[in-house]
Amino acid sequence: MDTIIVDALGHPIYFSDIFSSERIIQMCRHEFENVFIVTDKNVGAHYTQKLLNYLARNHIRAQFTMIPPGEHSKSRELKRSIEDMMFALGCGRDTIMIALGGGVVTDLAGFIAATYCRGIPIIYIPTSLLAMVDAANGGKTGINTDYGKNLIGTFTNPEAVFIDINLLNTLPENEYLLAFSEIIKHALIFDDDYFTLIESHIGDILKKDYAILSKIVKRSCEIKMLIISEDQAEKSKREMLNFGHTIAHALETLSQYAINHGQAVAIGIIAESYLSNQMKLLSDAHFHRIKQLILNLNIPVTVKATLSKGDLIAVLNRDKKIRKNKHRFVLLEKIGAVAYAKNLYAQPVAPILLDKLIDYLISYLTSSLP
Ligand SMILES: NC(=O)c1ccc[n+]([C@@H]2O[C@H](COP(=O)([O-])OP(=O)(O)OC[C@H]3O[C@@H](n4cnc5c(N)ncnc54)[C@H](O)[C@@H]3O)[C@@H](O)[C@H]2O)c1
Repeated sequence: MDTIIVDALGHPIYFSDIFSSERIIQMCRHEFENVFIVTDKNVGAHYTQKLLNYLARNHIRAQFTMIPPGEHSKSRELKRSIEDMMFALGCGRDTIMIALGGGVVTDLAGFIAATYCRGIPIIYIPTSLLAMVDAANGGKTGINTDYGKNLIGTFTNPEAVFIDINLLNTLPENEYLLAFSEIIKHALIFDDDYFTLIESHIGDILKKDYAILSKIVKRSCEIKMLIISEDQAEKSKREMLNFGHTIAHALETLSQYAINHGQAVAIGIIAESYLSNQMKLLSDAHFHRIKQLILNLNIPVTVKATLSKGDLIAVLNRDKKIRKNKHRFVLLEKIGAVAYAKNLYAQPVAPILLDKLIDYLISYLTSSLP
């Protein structure tokens, strides 16, 4: 039996076994002539044939493409080549897409679906923990450019998201652990009890205990939905979800995506917590708990990288949150709450503090965590 979370915009997240979900079959049958699956080669090797067989047993014929895994696939070139493939296959508005994969696949396929024939429906089947708790929910689609991450994209909701945590059986260990940066972010910005729950289940999490994992995936989905229901277009409250991401996106861009998104977010969480602490918002005790949790989960927060201050500033100067030439950051007031002032969820930061933040970042990126 599927359990469902529905956001205020009416977009359901189903928790179910995807290879027996009747809802997927109903959705694919509904008026659609073509089903087109986008997956990547890692995920596809495990699940494409299984999904095709399940659809075929239900008299649904599907076509598919398997893209190279990794962040570089979120590109204009790949978007164009998938669109051309779909045109060549005769896919029109009577097509439904299925994105089967991690956040790279859901972001890219979601963007294609948003604009192909002026928009066709898509179902997301997230297969990485990060995509289950974050990337597949909330309707942001996008690709990267040389100028930065996710700079082109849309806010477009999928018809539905289907989460099956059994798919995590094949997820590499490091991808599993790195997803906890987004999970910790949800707890930090919204729910201190959730943070405590994670702190008190480190052993179970490291053992991949599915009972606790199920709770975590559902709570993260709920938190994201609660925030987005009030502000899908990121005009105000949704900005909270950018906590840790200003620094994360800068690191990803500068490293040309050699630094994994989850790892960049973990570093960004520590850096932006440091900033919150320096701005006398976050207490020393809470800052310490945040660093400790990330360390206890074995999320690596140092990288082999030589980053210059000038390069970091240049990338940060292109941040989408900049208003009137002022850098803005989502800051924590305490574990479970962001600082909200003057109707803003992202606060302007003085150049001197930005400078201090970058020094701190450079010093711990290449050394151990202070
Ligand atoms: N749209 C949003 O709101 C949003 C939110 C957060 C992150 N994102 C985006 O998500 C992306 C990161 O997502 P990700 O961490 O899932 O990356 P990913 O899609 O690159 O997946 C990580 C790796 O795990 C592999 N993988 C995934 N599921 C697997 C499975 N079940 N079995 C075996 N291998 C599997 C993939 O092939 C890949 O190599 C970034 O591009 C980020 O910008 C988007």
